[in-house]
Amino acid sequence: VIAAVVARQLWDSRGRPTVEAEVTLASGAVGRAIAPAGASRGAHEAVDLRDDGALFGGFGVSRAVAGVAAEIAPALVGRDIGDQAAIDRALVALDGTADKSRLGANAVVAVSMAVLHAAAADVGEPLWRYLTGGRKVRVPLPEIQIFGGGAHAGRRTDIQDFMVMCPKAGSFRRALEITSDVYRTAGRLMEARGPLSGVADEGGWWPDFVSNEDALDVLTQAIETSGHRPAEDVWISLDVAANELGDASGYELALDELRLSGAEMAERVIGWANRYPILSIEDPAGQDDFATMAAVTAAIGGRVQIIGDDVLVTNAARVAAAAAAGACNAALIKVNQVGTVTEAKAALDAAATLGWGTIVSARSGESEDVTIAHLAVGWDAGQLKVGSFTRSERMAKWNEVLRIEEAMGGEAVFAGASCFAAAVA
Ligand code: PGA
Ligand code: ZN
Repeated sequence: VIAAVVARQLWDSRGRPTVEAEVTLASGAVGRAIAPAGASRGAHEAVDLRDDGALFGGFGVSRAVAGVAAEIAPALVGRDIGDQAAIDRALVALDGTADKSRLGANAVVAVSMAVLHAAAADVGEPLWRYLTGGRKVRVPLPEIQIFGGGAHAGRRTDIQDFMVMCPKAGSFRRALEITSDVYRTAGRLMEARGPLSGVADEGGWWPDFVSNEDALDVLTQAIETSGHRPAEDVWISLDVAANELGDASGYELALDELRLSGAEMAERVIGWANRYPILSIEDPAGQDDFATMAAVTAAIGGRVQIIGDDVLVTNAARVAAAAAAGACNAALIKVNQVGTVTEAKAALDAAATLGWGTIVSARSGESEDVTIAHLAVGWDAGQLKVGSFTRSERMAKWNEVLRIEEAMGGEAVFAGASCFAAAVA
């Protein structure tokens, strides 16, 4: 039974205010969670509540924190902790808007995840195991950023995430070891081209490239030079985040000085997949451009994972619409895109039922909160996207999965290539 719900303002990995919620049970068990924040957000996402005015650059969360004390706490105190779905329904009803904008998705998601943590703590189980309900689950395949571009790096490249995946690594631990080699090598290659300019929002090397393909060339070279085999041990994964580049009426690749129609954008992305060791592509088109998404999926979806992020926004109804259009074969799952744990799980279930891949994902604004590591394992998502291989808000999640993999001992099964939709695997 919930005894108290409190919220406080903390700071995220971009130095912006964020909301932490803390749920205390009558038993004394405590659950705590911190809201993440996106930068390349879709228009159909749940909306954070930020303060008016210039304080903290307009990112203040005092109203979101106040709403937890004034409205959310009174509505939740006394409720049964074991019924996450009922608590999340109460949060949705209390907010009353379609996009959680009244109480704020930042307040709602922090409370919803804190409730989940409290429920696991109440029965004395680690969250991932609590979520399995006794089912066998896999340790997820990590998708790890090497270069960060787009809205996370002053738009130095148009493509937002240049990442790697190691489906044949055999274990999560080994996948991280291989990735560390690639990350280090990529840094050396960039250093040789000129002074390093630090890292982007999610910890990937700040991209200093003359074209988007230049970045793909250097990443491929980094894989080769790292001592691992491209298209064998290590594959490239891209998040184009094309929602930031345009819509069905046209896309702009500023670095390449190109203005492309939807059909040309699809051709361009398909060309990348044909010339580079690419295994996965996220958001090759804008959030409502199902036709371009579908063109890419029809052409290469049989061998490349096509992930919907801004196009799906962790919304089960949009997953169904995208499936009807043949727009993708995998769904990115970000709890704060929809606002509650239960709604995020519904989107994941909808995608899994379609036979799609599912990827639990962090946001570009993060914290030491490691909830998503537990969700990726406990929900058997098969894949986890956290950002790069530096900065502790990223490493905290990778390290938590290492602990979980160790705790599973001989029972641990690495998802590897089993995480992809049947056609891709
Ligand atoms: P965001 O980006 O958290 O800034 O929205 C992450 C992504 O696009 O996957
Ligand atoms: Zn994305």
